[in-house]
Amino acid sequence: MRIGVDYYPEHWDEELWAQDARLMAQTGVKLVRLAEFAWCRLEPSDGQFDFAWLDKAIGIFAVNGIDVVIGTPTNCPPRWLCEKHPEILPVGDNGQTNPIGIRGHRCFNSPTLREYTGRIVGKLAEHYKDCKSVIAWQIDNELEANICCCEVCNNKHRDWLRQKYGTLEALNKAYGSVVWSGEYSLWEQIDPPYGGYNTAWLNPAYMLDFRRRAAEDVTEFARFQADIIRSHIPDAKITTNTWFCNNLPDFYNLFASLDFVSYDNYPTTSIPDDSEDIHTHAVYLDIMRGVKRKNFWIMEELSGGIGTWMPMQKTTRPGMIKGYALQAFAHGADTVVHFRWRTANIGAEMHWHGLIDHSNVPRRRFAEFAELCKEAEKLKNLESTEIRSDVAILFSVESEAAFKLQPQTDGYNYMEQIKLLHQAFARYGLNVDIIDEHTDISQYKIVCAPELYITDKTVADRLHDFARNGGTVILTARSGVKDEHNNCIMELLPTVYRELVGCHVSEYDPIGWGTNSVRFEDGEVFKCKQWCDVLEADTAEVLARYDCDFYKGSPAVTVNRYGKGTAYYVGTIGERRMYEKLAEDILCKAGVAYIADLPENVEVTTRTGNGVTAQFIFNDSDEEKAFTLDGRELHLMPFEMNCTLKK
Ligand code: GLA
Ligand code: ZN
Repeated sequence: MRIGVDYYPEHWDEELWAQDARLMAQTGVKLVRLAEFAWCRLEPSDGQFDFAWLDKAIGIFAVNGIDVVIGTPTNCPPRWLCEKHPEILPVGDNGQTNPIGIRGHRCFNSPTLREYTGRIVGKLAEHYKDCKSVIAWQIDNELEANICCCEVCNNKHRDWLRQKYGTLEALNKAYGSVVWSGEYSLWEQIDPPYGGYNTAWLNPAYMLDFRRRAAEDVTEFARFQADIIRSHIPDAKITTNTWFCNNLPDFYNLFASLDFVSYDNYPTTSIPDDSEDIHTHAVYLDIMRGVKRKNFWIMEELSGGIGTWMPMQKTTRPGMIKGYALQAFAHGADTVVHFRWRTANIGAEMHWHGLIDHSNVPRRRFAEFAELCKEAEKLKNLESTEIRSDVAILFSVESEAAFKLQPQTDGYNYMEQIKLLHQAFARYGLNVDIIDEHTDISQYKIVCAPELYITDKTVADRLHDFARNGGTVILTARSGVKDEHNNCIMELLPTVYRELVGCHVSEYDPIGWGTNSVRFEDGEVFKCKQWCDVLEADTAEVLARYDCDFYKGSPAVTVNRYGKGTAYYVGTIGERRMYEKLAEDILCKAGVAYIADLPENVEVTTRTGNGVTAQFIFNDSDEEKAFTLDGRELHLMPFEMNCTLKK
């Protein structure tokens, strides 16, 4: 396992570079990421390239045994380029061109941007193609599927729609644009979503297509750069660093043409008091591992208190720097790169803290980081070992986007039920995979398929087959709601899943911040919130019924035999313990071994391969935990990781 840091030579006097590199080497840092925002220094004026400073920095790191990841600088086109070619700047939904000097000021579709991108990326790849210390490439930085409203994008979108629908008649039908007299009679009438409206006012079918195309654009932009790098360096290892932003790219497509996934990991430094508030970052790590169903990297890892677009947050508590990095290993990361070596003394991010403070005097956080480096060195032979799981959760990029366009009820968030289900199974010391809804699931025993809101027949068929062949599936409220255009389906919910779950929704109650509760047959009662599907069983058995309101006594949670398998339907959003109860019952029935008595917020995962199994036991809380596991007495400090190797 390898530890690195994000480093910005262009932010520091040259005298510091060698000093920093020496300290890195002493500490155990194995790689640095460089240059992802440095276009103005790499190409100070049109066609005049200066890589001498980067050569020098890379040389200093090489002498110290430190490898390099080069970031392509396309996130920040330099001022001369923006002035010469303002058409490369993206246009917002107010019709205004985005300003320069923040970042991300480039339109992926601009032919001029492509030309300059191709040139700088090509020059970099050509220049460093034989440089042994450059071991990987990062494309751009945190690519997002933003909607640009420039003329190039508008025309591209119209072409995309022409391609998809063929005729305006078909498009009008798919969009239901007759509503509010929105029917189109010319392709040119199709504008981007101008006006800064709350998206919920706009046509949902029209909006989802914009999101889809924006996601395709990002994917294409990354592939464009990857192809250029590969034309110079056929075996280059290429990635891009992603995160959970507002306009999510389609991770699965984005990384399909790249070699590995990397993720920017910033778990919280404020542990919530309310135990209903799931704070663990494990769910995001498992999503990242699931993108290519392979191990991944953390390209930016939490180092100190954060703060830039928000006031400064609590500093990293003792144990967090080491613990959160080891947690990433425990969920399938092979390399963790900390953001950043030293806190910036200049620029907008001067309050987003690195490992070393503004003073350049290494203190507590740095000492902990040094311990992490030693620990990672000990785990070296675990590199590329695998995480194997019997339980999977399906992630739906389309549904995630559609929920953001039309919030379902107060407090409703697509990620919440993913987190609840993940937490429920992880609670029993299991590895949990989170994978694309479109992936093969036959290797699993249990598949959670929450909120499959945008219906895809192949996904539905696969889930039916899986259950028919003996698998256990868990579906939830807001499944089968929309067709592929994001329009409601004229059938009883959960439409295509009705036969599988053996029940239907007779009515639903979006209770938002209100509460209800559900009573299980054994008398256990759990609070529930946000959404209540009032169910009627067709062939299913009722497991729990609502306890309040006019639908008191109506089914809320059911289970159905389907073929050789089983299908659960959870019609509401319950408290954590409700999912834990269901998970334990499901694990027992599915014959999956689990650990019954882990303390809350203690995670156990395993990595297997290279002739070993490594068990990671992580205290993801700010309290000490003492407990017995497999006959061993364990005492873990806050955020402490115990890693045990078994032959
Ligand atoms: C993101 C970016 C970094 C930096 C950090 C901290 O993850 O990729 O460049 O801005 O946030 O703010
Ligand atoms: Zn554009």
